[in-house]
Amino acid sequence: MEKRSCWQGWLNAEVYQEFVEHWPIYAWLNRDLAAGADLETARRVLDLGSGTGATAAACLRRMRPEARLVGIDGSAEMVGVARSRVRDERALFVVADARAVGEAVRNRFDRIVANASFWLLPRTAKFYAALGALSEPDALLTFNVPAEEVAGEVVRPHAFQVALGRRLRGRHMSFARPTVALHPERLEERLGVHGFRLEKRESLVYKGRQRELIELMAIPAMTARLAPGLSAEERQAAVAEAAAAVDPGEEVEVPWVVFGFRRSGAGELRTR
Ligand SMILES: C[S@@+](CC[C@H](N)C(=O)[O-])C[C@H]1O[C@@H](n2cnc3c(N)ncnc32)[C@H](O)[C@@H]1O
Repeated sequence: MEKRSCWQGWLNAEVYQEFVEHWPIYAWLNRDLAAGADLETARRVLDLGSGTGATAAACLRRMRPEARLVGIDGSAEMVGVARSRVRDERALFVVADARAVGEAVRNRFDRIVANASFWLLPRTAKFYAALGALSEPDALLTFNVPAEEVAGEVVRPHAFQVALGRRLRGRHMSFARPTVALHPERLEERLGVHGFRLEKRESLVYKGRQRELIELMAIPAMTARLAPGLSAEERQAAVAEAAAAVDPGEEVEVPWVVFGFRRSGAGELRTR
């Protein structure tokens, strides 16, 4: 039986959407990603892990009237919110796990974007092959990843992360900081098989207050990844205790890495 993703459920979709509306980090990341995706000339955009539609909204603002966007997300509830919030006839949202993106989406795209989601997506040969098959020659694949999920990046943990880790560990030995998800050299190699070349790798630093990180952890999916053995209530109790132990007004920096891969042109793909 397929494992249920921690992103499913209405509570998750509701709390995520409230967070996105109230706190600036996702809007800031989405603006940056959309600005770097050359969307003004795009014809068809694929939005991977489209969530409640914040990425689509940022992209649609830059897209031409005749351009189209397809968002795909594995959580029916996140897609439900996206459909109700992004009322734009250029956009279509599909419920599908990225593992099946090749079957769920039929068109080919000249842009693929993934805001705050790429490291959550499968890292399988099938998925990378699907990205190749869904991309037109010269297509741009661009996504951002928290630096702590990128091998080789040195990231100092914040006081709240340390406090939360200790409290989750105290409740359940299954707590594990997930191992780094993304190995850039491996990714280059695996996407390279399907005609993608790394064109851009940039560092981006979000500056905010610790209280934003605390609120982020109110989204059930965020702590579910850290401590899958605990109930949502136990995880939230740990968040509350950790929040009480730190200064919410403290300034924090959250480093991200932005990647851009360009697919080979038609001539080069023909001769491969
Ligand atoms: C942090 S949210 C980002 C949503 C959106 N891009 C934004 O910026 O607001 C991550 C999203 O990735 C989706 N996701 C995670 N793993 C997935 C998978 N294997 N297939 C499809 N979607 C997935 C989750 O359901 C969630 O909506």
